[in-house]
Amino acid sequence: MLVDTHCHLGDERFDDDRSQVVGRARDAGVGHVVVIADTLAATTRAIELANEHGLSATAGVHPHAATSWTPRVAQAIEQAVGDPTVVAIGEAGLDYYYDNSPREVQRKVFAAQLELAARRDLPIVVHSRDADDDMVALLEDSDATVVLHSFSSGNDVLQAGLDRGCYISFSGMVTFRNWRNVDAVRAVASDRILVETDAPYLAPVPYRGQRNEPAFVARVAAKVAELRGVVVAELARQTTANAARCFGPRVTLQPN
Ligand code: NI
Repeated sequence: MLVDTHCHLGDERFDDDRSQVVGRARDAGVGHVVVIADTLAATTRAIELANEHGLSATAGVHPHAATSWTPRVAQAIEQAVGDPTVVAIGEAGLDYYYDNSPREVQRKVFAAQLELAARRDLPIVVHSRDADDDMVALLEDSDATVVLHSFSSGNDVLQAGLDRGCYISFSGMVTFRNWRNVDAVRAVASDRILVETDAPYLAPVPYRGQRNEPAFVARVAAKVAELRGVVVAELARQTTANAARCFGPRVTLQPN
């Protein structure tokens, strides 16, 4: 059994066939999907879908939407955390590549969500792009359990993540011909590695360029296993045990 630890199942690209997507995941041995939110509206939607399909949800605001963070939104996210389907805060973080929100706002909103995660004893799913120095500084300031999602950062973030015991999650990017971070895939301890799709984005080879979906996490697992020199059954066992330790036992439930 595999767990897709990061899927934007609420994305409109799944509106026409969401139930089939969940069914195909189940048929492919993907036992569970963590439905990721990136805004308050997406948080509400993720919880709805998690309840409907027997999955898990996150609650949080992405750096792209950091300017949407108001006291009212903060309070609504805090309230959403009380839903039994919510297993993590996020996705939250820093994105200095797109800079869709001012950087100081991104830092403030990320820090607030790190504080929320630590206080509510939930992991936080972290997005980091072209913001290595500030990411390292903010992570070192926090006690929260952290998942570095779709890891593709530089060596400083990797080292900081390894040192503070972050979970590190790999996506379909590991199957791309131009993937340069093989050392990172090998450096993560076997009790800290996770796999994800980031669907509908980042479809793995041979689906690159198409809509991604949770069933394809099997391709990610196969490539990560190959790069780490373990059989895929062992990688599946490790990553599923890690997902359950990180997010809690809910992520071992079968979807319906
Ligand atoms: Ni994402």
